[in-house]
Amino acid sequence: MFQLIAGVFLASLAHAQHITNLINVTVPGKLPSQAHLDLLDAGIIGDPLYGFNEWNQFWVERSNWTYTSGPILGLNHGLGVESWLVFEGLDTFCEIKLCNHTVANVANQFRKYTFEVTDILPKCSGDLVLSLNFGSAPAIVLDIAATVGPEFQGRVYMRKEENDLGWDWSPQFAPAGPWRPAYVVQRAKKDPIFITNTAIDIFRQGQMPNLPPDQSKPFVFNASIDFFGIMPQGAEMHLRLVDSAGKTVKDTKLTDVYQSSETVTGSTIIYEDVDLWWPSGYGDQNLYTATVSVISDEFNKPAIVTRRVGFRTIVLNLEPVTEAQKAAGVGPGANWNFQINGHEMYAKGSNFIPPDVFWARINETTIRELFELAVVGRQNMLRVWSSGAYLPDWAYDLADEMGLLLWSEFQFSVAYFPTLPEFLAEYEAEVYYNSRRVNHHPSLALWAGGNELEYYIVLYYLDANPIRADYEKIFQEVIIKCVYANTHSISYIPSSTYHGYLSLDFDSVRPQVSRYLNTSGPDALYYDTDFYNYDGAQAFNYSSYPVGRFADEFGFPSMPSVHSWRDTIPEEALYLDSPYILHHNRHLGSGDTVMEQSAAGLAQVTDAVKYWYPLPDMKDQVANFSAWSWTTQVFQADYYASQIAFYRRGSGLSNRQLGSLYWQLNDVWVGPTWSSVEHSLRQKVVYYVAKDIYNPIIVHPFYDVDNNTLEIWVVSDLWDITSGEVTLKWMDWQGKTLDITSPAAVDSSNGQPLNVPFDIMPINATCVVRYPNLTSLFSNSTPASNALLSLSVKAGSHTHSSYFHPESLAGSAIQDPGLTLTVRSGSGGYSDVTQFKVTATKAVAAWVWLDHPSTVRGYFSQNGFWLDKGESRIVDFIVWDDFTQTGAWVDDVAVRSIWNNTLSE
Ligand SMILES: *[C@@H]1O[C@H](CO)[C@@H](O)[C@H](O)[C@H]1NC(C)=O
Ligand SMILES: *[C@@H]1O[C@H](CO)[C@@H](O)[C@H](O)[C@H]1NC(C)=O
Ligand SMILES: *[C@@H]1O[C@H](CO)[C@@H](O)[C@H](O)[C@H]1NC(C)=O
Ligand SMILES: *[C@@H]1O[C@H](CO)[C@@H](O)[C@H](O)[C@H]1NC(C)=O
Ligand SMILES: *[C@@H]1O[C@H](CO)[C@@H](O)[C@H](O)[C@H]1NC(C)=O
Ligand SMILES: *[C@@H]1O[C@H](CO)[C@@H](O)[C@H](O)[C@H]1NC(C)=O
Ligand SMILES: *[C@@H]1O[C@H](CO)[C@@H](O)[C@H](O)[C@H]1NC(C)=O
Ligand SMILES: *[C@@H]1O[C@H](CO)[C@@H](O)[C@H](O)[C@H]1NC(C)=O
Repeated sequence: MFQLIAGVFLASLAHAQHITNLINVTVPGKLPSQAHLDLLDAGIIGDPLYGFNEWNQFWVERSNWTYTSGPILGLNHGLGVESWLVFEGLDTFCEIKLCNHTVANVANQFRKYTFEVTDILPKCSGDLVLSLNFGSAPAIVLDIAATVGPEFQGRVYMRKEENDLGWDWSPQFAPAGPWRPAYVVQRAKKDPIFITNTAIDIFRQGQMPNLPPDQSKPFVFNASIDFFGIMPQGAEMHLRLVDSAGKTVKDTKLTDVYQSSETVTGSTIIYEDVDLWWPSGYGDQNLYTATVSVISDEFNKPAIVTRRVGFRTIVLNLEPVTEAQKAAGVGPGANWNFQINGHEMYAKGSNFIPPDVFWARINETTIRELFELAVVGRQNMLRVWSSGAYLPDWAYDLADEMGLLLWSEFQFSVAYFPTLPEFLAEYEAEVYYNSRRVNHHPSLALWAGGNELEYYIVLYYLDANPIRADYEKIFQEVIIKCVYANTHSISYIPSSTYHGYLSLDFDSVRPQVSRYLNTSGPDALYYDTDFYNYDGAQAFNYSSYPVGRFADEFGFPSMPSVHSWRDTIPEEALYLDSPYILHHNRHLGSGDTVMEQSAAGLAQVTDAVKYWYPLPDMKDQVANFSAWSWTTQVFQADYYASQIAFYRRGSGLSNRQLGSLYWQLNDVWVGPTWSSVEHSLRQKVVYYVAKDIYNPIIVHPFYDVDNNTLEIWVVSDLWDITSGEVTLKWMDWQGKTLDITSPAAVDSSNGQPLNVPFDIMPINATCVVRYPNLTSLFSNSTPASNALLSLSVKAGSHTHSSYFHPESLAGSAIQDPGLTLTVRSGSGGYSDVTQFKVTATKAVAAWVWLDHPSTVRGYFSQNGFWLDKGESRIVDFIVWDDFTQTGAWVDDVAVRSIWNNTLSE
């Protein structure tokens, strides 16, 4: 989002003429770009994500790459003209030269750089050529580590996306290049100032970050503009606020104008009626266009900046549990929950990682599709994990429109970072720039200092220790100060995992004093949870799950689909432990070699399947591989549903649990990862199952293996008291009703569907039925292996259903459901939505899965569900891209269920 200001000349550097590594390659270059992408376009390297190409292409990240422009034409060489180079993003270690004069050396991927080059231009003999010489990040960080000290890992010495050096879901490419746009900007006398950044802050009068504001107060609109050029004394600032229908809501001069040599700030109070912005599921995403102008008699025109804004308050409330809350059953400790416009909300969502290993090739289409999947999947919040890269403004714009809250983080991940003065200066500049840049977006929900930082301190460095001192310096003094200087509206926490603060004092050099493990008693709860357990045998054991107030990470890896593998490894490598698959797996176990470690990591995934499901054993190698891959997805989905239901039930227990963000929404490539959506955006089973369990009202069976008790709970995250009815029906796999005694408390009609009415309070949970001794329900004539409990709930317009099977599916008497699939409409046409009808003609069908070919991109309205015997389901497929162009892809849609695992072909 760059404003073109009348009077200021902006030459977009549309192309780099070429890029070269000075040793053996020179190819045409683009801008923005990264070296791998230009080498790929030139045919020098193959698809970096294919097969073992990551290893074959290490020479690219070990080279220096110089991007050289063509002659820059059309500049004003007149007297008194000021000139700047503007870079929206350079990745990362870069020497900038203009006609062979060094302009600067930079080392931060996350900053926007502007350099005045007014003095260099006249010295230029010959062509005006820009050259950007990028060093090899992996080589440079090792050099720095060698001089500064070995106690830091090399990657903490770069202000660069950390997964560029690999992660447990990411290959390593360490790309280099001008990854975001660049410009030449010129300003003649009487031209207005050139605006480089803005911080628009909309908050309730009196609001301070991290604290719930008084909702009866009017909104304050504060606009702060960073610029270059000379601001005349006495310049005025104006605001025009226009609603989405084009009506001007306010047109006013800003007051309390304060200016320095680089920034001008003013504010006004919005007494006018404005419609609030709400996240998806809670109301409309009302947006306004704010035009801020700076006017002076000395300018020939105003300097103007336009931002789309919204009116809302969002607070991460970490304040102590109040007496009123305690009276309502909330256990002691502190809150850990989001409040939108003064309402506590249940955060439902997932963790967003970079959409690709090369950010420079990502455009709005990909992000829009990902966000669409999240919103359609009933998610209202994404945690934008660090250490990827800060999202561009256009991504926040999409989230504003779609109602997705973005928990945002500074780029520091699970390590300890240097506090050398030059590094602190980089953090400060980066945080200042990014927190100002995105503050106006209503989707911005939170700033966290980084990923799992406190977790690391609490685990290893809690004793007085320089590492803890460095952590507190960076995240509780330097970064927090930059955030609080720029926002009244956004809460800050030092780390994604956080036990909260003992005190909050905005006047202190350390405004938040961390609580760490200083609890007021054994029952007091303060923290969010971040939980992984790779022992599949424990997956459905509730006593293995963490009890906290919010779950910001949890998950388990699964395989991508065979379709995606086909695009990325050879056909003959399509078997579970092929070297190609082991190479694409980064979830490692123990072993002597990397390949052994990968095999051990992957074995955790396949072992989990072995505990719980019938195992595919097909004659055809690829069909068998495909069935196994899918079954790992079923386990992942089953496990996530169980955890999400458990966390959501906590909203009605003393831990008052108010958020579940699973790990992870998306993928950077094709590999066995925790993702719910593959790199191509094809959805895994867990995507649909999470959508189902994120229904506002759910009915869910909780079988406690420790005490053999089955409880049926209803959970609601609605803000109203809701009444409804749960229907329970025991049946066998043939669909025949079973005469199973219902618990005495609710027993009225053995063998008949049982209807249990309930009332549920806002964001709460209630147990509707309890079977205190589950195994006592079964006998030789009614074995647990052939018993199913069908559950459904109806509450107003909300419905949800689920099944409980007392035996694992591996030990259950699964029957052939006789699935049929027909195309209902759109067949052969060009419609954006095609309907399928799937029916279980012979028996109950578990984990019904519709599978589409790679000749189409899009998503189903539902998938991965169960069907009663005789039940039909209409499923929509929303088409993004039909590569057959005729709708012929529908002929290749297949259906399966867990029953297919028992077939030999
Ligand atoms: C460039 O040199 C590196 C080694 O220095 C080599 O691995 C690579 O294949 C070469 N690339 C080309 C295109 O010749
Ligand atoms: C890359 O550039 C640095 C200096 O910027 C130099 O020390 C190094 O030798 C260069 N590396 C290669 C592979 O050319
Ligand atoms: C660029 O400047 C360096 C010294 O700073 C000089 O050695 C080199 O020849 C110059 N290159 C060109 C193309 O002028
Ligand atoms: C949840 O609902 C129960 C009644 O079912 C009520 O006693 C309790 O106070 C509610 N919890 C909260 C936090 O409001
Ligand atoms: C965005 O990127 C995708 C994938 O590279 C490409 O197919 C599409 O054409 C691009 N869209 C736009 C609007 O540039
Ligand atoms: C079984 O344990 C769960 C906690 O995991 C508890 O909610 C339930 O009340 C227990 N049931 C019995 C009968 O003890
Ligand atoms: C549960 O029921 C079984 C079978 O009826 C019985 O043997 C067992 O003692 C019961 N357990 C409890 C804790 O009541
Ligand atoms: C699943 O099995 C049924 C036969 O029971 C078959 O028609 C169907 O094609 C199978 N699905 C897949 C994906 O193999």
